[in-house]
Order: sequence, then C-alpha cells, then structure tokens
Amino acid sequence: MCGIFGCILKNGNAAPIIHTSLKCLEYRGYDSVGIATLNNGQVNIKKDQGKIDDVHHILNLDDLPGSVGVGHTRWATHGAPLKVNAHPHVDCSGQIVVVHNGIVENYAELKESLENLGHTFVSRTDTEVIPHLIEETQKKNPSFTFTEAVLEAVKKLAGSYALAVISANEPDKIICARNESPLVIGVGEDALYCASDLTAFLPMTNKAVMINDGELVILTSGGYEIRRIADFAVVVREPKVIDWTPEMAVKQGYPHFMLKEIHEQPATLRNTLRMQGHYLDLISTFLDRANEVFLVACGTSYHACLAASYMFSKLAFLPSYPVYASEFVEQHGKSVNIDSTILAVSQSGETADMLGAVTCSQQRAATILGLTNAIGSTLTRVSRVYIGQQSGPEIGVAATKTFTSQLSVLAQLAFRLSNKRGKISQDEMDYLAEKMEHLPQTVEAIILTQEEKVKQLAKKYRDAKIFFFLGRGINTATAYEGRLKLMEIAYVPSIAFPAGESKHGPISLIEPGFPVIFICPKDGVTHKTLIGNIMEMKARGASIISIIEEGDEEVKALSDDYVEVPKGIPEVLSPIPFVIPLQLFAYYMALEKGVNPDMPRNLAKSVTVK
Ligand code: AGP
Repeated sequence: MCGIFGCILKNGNAAPIIHTSLKCLEYRGYDSVGIATLNNGQVNIKKDQGKIDDVHHILNLDDLPGSVGVGHTRWATHGAPLKVNAHPHVDCSGQIVVVHNGIVENYAELKESLENLGHTFVSRTDTEVIPHLIEETQKKNPSFTFTEAVLEAVKKLAGSYALAVISANEPDKIICARNESPLVIGVGEDALYCASDLTAFLPMTNKAVMINDGELVILTSGGYEIRRIADFAVVVREPKVIDWTPEMAVKQGYPHFMLKEIHEQPATLRNTLRMQGHYLDLISTFLDRANEVFLVACGTSYHACLAASYMFSKLAFLPSYPVYASEFVEQHGKSVNIDSTILAVSQSGETADMLGAVTCSQQRAATILGLTNAIGSTLTRVSRVYIGQQSGPEIGVAATKTFTSQLSVLAQLAFRLSNKRGKISQDEMDYLAEKMEHLPQTVEAIILTQEEKVKQLAKKYRDAKIFFFLGRGINTATAYEGRLKLMEIAYVPSIAFPAGESKHGPISLIEPGFPVIFICPKDGVTHKTLIGNIMEMKARGASIISIIEEGDEEVKALSDDYVEVPKGIPEVLSPIPFVIPLQLFAYYMALEKGVNPDMPRNLAKSVTVK
C-alpha cells in the first residue's frame, strides 16, 4: 500500500503542497518518497529512500518549481526500498512521469516486450512499465493526445492501480486512473488535487469526488473530467462535502486503525493473490529440497507458522516444525546445521527473538528464507530468498490483516510444494485454487453479515472473567490466535489449546457459564470429534460459543451462541475466514472494556528487544 498525490494550481508552487500532503499519507508507506513538478517544459524530480522528513532534510522537497506536480510515499512490494525504486518513475525521454499505488500483475511480460522495443529500465519495480507503455503508445500513435495515450496504456495493465501521470509535453493536466486501489479527487477554489485518500487534501478542501474502478480522470486547473476507461464515456459526478476531521480521515472514517485493518482484509488478500510467482516458486523449491524445515516466528506470526505446518503436511507431505523464535536457540541451537532450512515469518522483519534464531541458524550454515511485510527490513537482508506478504502498513499494534496475508502466502507455497511433489490430485488442486481465489469475497461476506452479531456477543460476555478457545487440527492455530487477540487488546485472560487436550486437565476449570469458543469448520475429519468436545463442555455447564459454517444445524443446536461463515471452505484454508469473527470479537470486547484497541498497554508493534 503506498500513497499517491498530485495537484494542479492556478498559480503558485506545487512542491510544498505535495510535500505536506504526502506527510498525511505517510501511514500508507514510509520507506521512500519522491516529488516531480513541471516547469517551462522541464520535469524536475527529487526522490530518495527513507522517511519523508529525512529525505526532505537532505533534498528539500519544497524546492521544485512549477504549479503542477505529483508525489509518492512508498511501501515496497516489488524492489527494495532504494532510491532507484522510489517513485516517481519516468519513460526513456524523462518527459512522462508516473506515481502508482497497486500491483501491476503483468509487469514482467510488459517489461520484456518494452525492452525488446528498445526501452531501458533502471528500477526493479512493476510501476516503471507504466511510463514506458505510455511512451510506446504515443510513439505508435503520433496522433494520440496525451490523454488517449494514457488511456490505451492503462487498458493493457492487469492488476490494481491508482496512478497519476504528468507530461512535460502537455503540462496543463494530470491524468489519473483507478482499478482496485483507492483514488479520490479534491476540488479547491484555485486548485485540483488527486490522492490515495482524502486525508491528503482535507486541509485545503473538503469537496471530494470518489473515483471508481475503471475510471480515468483528466485534471486541469479549471476542473476535472471523469471518463470510463472501457469506452471513454463521460461520467458525471458532483463533489461531495466531507465532514471528517483530518484524524478521522487517516482512519478513513473508522474509529480505530484495528477495525480499518480488519476491514481491509478482502483487499489485502486480493493483493496476496497477485504474488510474483517467481518468488513463490523459488521458496517452495528450497523447501522441497530441504532435509529439515523449521518455521520460526513470534506471536501471531508463530500462529501462521503453526497453521502452515498443517498445510505443508496435508498438501505436500512435507514435515515442518513450527518453533517459537524465543525458544529456538535453546531447543535447536545445537542441532540446526547446514542441512536445515529456516523459514522465518515476521510482519516487521525486525523482531529480536526471530533475528536471534536466524543468526544462530546462519552461524551453523542453515539456509534462511523470509516471509515479511517490511521489504528492506533486516530479515530481507539476511534471507537467501524472501517474499513480501503484501499487507501494506499495519498501524494497529494487534496483527490482523498481516495474519491472513501470511496464511495466504503460506497456503500458496503449500500449493506449489504439492504440485512439485504430486501428492494430491489435479482435481483437488484445482478445487483448492478456486476456493483460494474466492477467499477475499468470503471474508467480505463474513464482515458484512456477522460483524453486528459479534459486537452483540462482546456485549453479552463483557463480564466474563476468562475464555477458552478450542480448535482441532489446523484450527488449533486459529484458537491460539483468537486467544492472543482477546488477551492483548481487551486484557481478558484466555486459554487456548487443541480441543482434544481438554480432558487431559483444562476441563477441570469448567463451571456453569464458563464461555468456551469453538472453531468448528464442517470440512475435514475434526467436525465429528469437535462435537464430542462440545458435549463434554456443555455437560459441565459451559456456555458454548461456536464459529461454524452457515447451516451447521448440528453444532448450532449445541451452542448458546454461534457466528456463521460461508459454507464450503476447505479445512486447509479455514483459518483465514474463521479468524475474522475472533478478530472482531477482540476488537468489540476492547470497546466494551473502554480500552483503546490501537494502543494496548505494555505492547509495541515491533518487539525489537529480547
Ligand atoms: C500480534 O497481535 C502481536 N502484535 C505480536 O504477537 C506480533 O505478532 C509478534 O510480536 C511478532 O511480530 P512480527 O510478526 O513483526 O515478527
């Protein structure tokens, strides 16, 4: 997730406004920044890796002439956070300038065909194909206006984009286009703005025009024109007056980042499905050839690793050992060796315990692989190969969208491993791939239809002193994650363990009214045994709260309360949808307790101390 901004003024300099506006978008990405302006037929660009304030201190981002310009603050997905990969990007002539938020899925083939036509690329980003595509379109169609060239180029892009383009040859306009990444226009008295979200221009104007997927916008100092990309038809849409405060706008109207990030999961899951296959193939090849595989992480990332160990085993018959990073050196420090492969999973890529385990393994010549949200983090620098989880910055301390993104990437690795090893039929592979593609909509449906019910459940159980979270198989990981969420942001003592373990001790805690949350998918062999576990608890007076597939009448009849997810979810993918109600339950319980879900006491977003 990155932040784009553009402005065209009737008079005055654009650069200082772009710089200030990018600061409002910094929560969307902060590993590099750049600004480009047009002045007297010249393109002026300043960009570098680093946070906005640091880059400004060195380069003075305000000092660029011209009343038209674009800017970008980056969260690296393709290409490390280096100056060469920072936006804006230009074409061969340096006259066409683009800033972009999203993922160009077909950038590899576009880049290859453009290179064959003689285009020279300098970065490793997907974005850089866009200015060259516009340039090539203009070359092939000299009669095209700049707008028509951008339109034709955009039609060739697959994937998600919110982009803003300027050209020294037509300096009186900014062309924007949107598909799946947010884009909004600000209409000021003496200026027009385009941005990833209205936070960026709210201090200048509260008149906003929301742009929809498949629309292109031509901005001039006199106004804006919206066209449909498919047929260039004019779209008439009046500005709306926005009554948000800037603080609300950063959260896009949500009361907390955590809720915003829970709601972002359909979009972030879509992004994980646009992974670069090359890196998935590379990592799965290392895993396939490994003698022994350790999955090393902390907290929520460890729960993703636990789930992954079931995926790798069930789909590819690959044994893998999830290990708490903080325990790794004690547990395996002497035995890890050159034949070991470590897949370290870490949203921040900086967690000290995880890096400690990685360093120990490296010193014993093990192979290090990384899955992280922070490209350019220490984990990416010490990994033989790493892959980004495509979640965008997560501001809430509690990991929510990063958990489901990690699970999605790990599932895709399991699919590739399974293909390599031929352990499951092609039909089953096709079935799982189709279900995987559908997960964003499934998660969307859960949020849409169950959020209110979960909110009521938090109210109903607000005075409960302790909760059990129980699951079987892969959903033991989901149970652990639900427990962690409730503990860390609502401060409610919670215990999670495999449901089969209840009778080996924990059930002694049960007394009438004790709330037990069961994660109970229909698919797989665990459903039957889970019913037995529910009966055990029910017989001792527990309050049964079940997360079930819609229409699971058998478990419904045994439950005091239930939350439904859409039916037909394969067990091996079930942690992704089944965790959503648990994330929402923790969030609304925090509100019931009157605590701030975004900033839980005693915790930090990235634990960089051991
Ligand atoms: C999860 O909600 C917590 N914020 C915490 O457990 C976190 O998952 C853990 O510290 C690991 O962080 P990482 O993924 O950045 O390594």
